[in-house]
Parts: sequence; structure tokens; C-alpha cells
Amino acid sequence: MTDHERALLIAAATGAREHAHAPYSKFRVGAALRAVSGRIFTGCNVENTTLGLSICAERLAVFKALSEGERGFNGVAVVAETDVPTPPCGACRQILWEFCGDSEVLLANLKGQVTLQRMSELFPTPFDRSLL
Ligand code: THU
Repeated sequence: MTDHERALLIAAATGAREHAHAPYSKFRVGAALRAVSGRIFTGCNVENTTLGLSICAERLAVFKALSEGERGFNGVAVVAETDVPTPPCGACRQILWEFCGDSEVLLANLKGQVTLQRMSELFPTPFDRSLL
């Protein structure tokens, strides 16, 4: 991604975070994916009284994009209000690896601090289709 594409993706994730439904954890997260087509898909965490039914921002963004027929992604951004940028949980790493492969992952907070990693750094020993 170019610096401009990275900035747009972080802005999209920051906007999506505003829609988070997180009354239980109070931890609001926004995510955005960049498809190779150039389209951007966003997600936020959506919690439920039955806590196990909650979904993270990253997985919601992936599932939204897939359900609209999009395939192939090369960038992910995750935004939360933390001092240290928040990385995706283990479940989200598995899903991101399946659909986004070794994408760039931008982790940002509301102070504008950003770290850039690749999925292969965040998820170095994946269980994936190559093992089936
Ligand atoms: N959460 C995300 O949406 N993404 C992450 O990367 C970490 C955690 C959500 C799940 C739950 O709604 C809240 O943050 C606290 O764990």
C-alpha cells in the first residue's frame, strides 16, 4: 500500500469504530480492509448480552466484504483507544490469514500512533489449507 492508501484505511477504521456496540467491555474497536479492487470494507465490534456471541471488528469487516462478493485483500487497519496499538485476537488472525494472506496490518490508536506489521509476523505458524 502507498502512504495515502494506509492513511485512508486508518481513517476508515477510525470512522467504523464510532459504530461499535461495546456496552459490556467499553472497548471500542474499528477495522478496515483494503481489497485489491481498491474497495474498502469496514467493521466494528458488536457485543451481545450473551457475551460469547460478540464479534470483533476485524471478522465483521472480513465477513461483510466476502458477503458482497469481494475476494483478495492487501491491507488491514485496526483502531482502538489504547496507548499501545491493539493487535487482532487469535480468532481474527486465523480468519485474516485465510482471506487476507500475508497482508500489511496497520495497528493505530486515536493519538495517531501507528505500527505496521505483516500477517506472517502476527501469525507465524498458521494452520491453513496447505496442511490439509
Ligand atoms: N476486539 C476487537 O473487536 N478486535 C480486537 O482486535 C481485539 C478485541 C473486541 C472484542 C470485544 O468486543 C472487545 O474488543 C473486548 O475484548
